[in-house]
Amino acid sequence: MEWKQQLREYVDLTNQYLEEMLHEATGHNKTVIEAMKYSLYAGGKRLRPVLMLAAYRLFNSNITEVLPYAAAIEMIHTYSLIHDDLPAMDNDDYRRGKLTNHKVFGEGIAILAGDGLLNYAYELMLQEALKKENPRAFVEAAFQVAKASGVNGMIGGQTVDLESENKSISADTLAYIHLNKTAAIITASLKAGAIIGGGTESDIRNMEMIGQALGLAFQIQDDILDIVGDEAKLGKRTGSDADNQKSTYPSIHGIDASYDKVKQLTEAIYGTLEQYGERGLFLKALSSDLMERES
Ligand code: IPE
Ligand code: IPE
Ligand code: MG
Ligand code: MG
Ligand code: MG
Repeated sequence: MEWKQQLREYVDLTNQYLEEMLHEATGHNKTVIEAMKYSLYAGGKRLRPVLMLAAYRLFNSNITEVLPYAAAIEMIHTYSLIHDDLPAMDNDDYRRGKLTNHKVFGEGIAILAGDGLLNYAYELMLQEALKKENPRAFVEAAFQVAKASGVNGMIGGQTVDLESENKSISADTLAYIHLNKTAAIITASLKAGAIIGGGTESDIRNMEMIGQALGLAFQIQDDILDIVGDEAKLGKRTGSDADNQKSTYPSIHGIDASYDKVKQLTEAIYGTLEQYGERGLFLKALSSDLMERES
């Protein structure tokens, strides 16, 4: 199968599952469910679920058992975007080609929609784990997702990102921000897929290496696109980082060094994937494609 066709299959499986999880809302709580659906179904590349499904497929083919986890990681990611766009954070008006959640529903509901997505993610993962005679791998995968999303992961990174506005920070602090706000969840996606799929300790370590490199490259590319990208393709405004005086890879190291770093990180990923031979080709093609992404 062509890798793009494989990508389509992973994205479609994720979208179908997400659609089934949040049906039409009619109860008293319908506003918050509508707000959750608004951002979740607005589009988005579905990168994190795709990585999870691809990592699972390195070791196992029964992909339906990992779908609740793939949907969960996308819910956590989407919640992080809703909160990231709030006036108190990056104050952005467009996301995924549409008005941001708080622009449509107001800040209170946007905060609750984020909270709703976060908690629903754990509900889905634990519900799946409870179905298993031996849930160990499923609990371990949920643990990895929780850790990566929390204060020692994404929330920690977002905290330092906010604290670093309007000041110059060291390369080390920037690396902390990128590894935590972005790479942590990307790494957890790959690790959770491999854990549920039955990868060995050494496979899990490989996923960790790939996730960190891919996460860093992904955020550096995001920072580059905030400067040189096309708003229509990105579905979000460019120039947001400069307006907020964010410390980014290009602002600290320059744009040429940023492109070089993305390339170098991507080549390191190819190296780790080599041992998986043919099975690793999908992740190799995806990493290569992300290096040149415009959205
Ligand atoms: C945006 O993530 C936030 C970052 C971590 C850079 P994506 O670029 O994956 O956003 P969607 O999911 O495609 O909208
Ligand atoms: C956000 O980084 C990372 C998250 C954890 C949400 P950015 O603030 O650079 O993401 P965009 O550019 O708004 O998508
Ligand atoms: Mg931000
Ligand atoms: Mg932002
Ligand atoms: Mg950005």
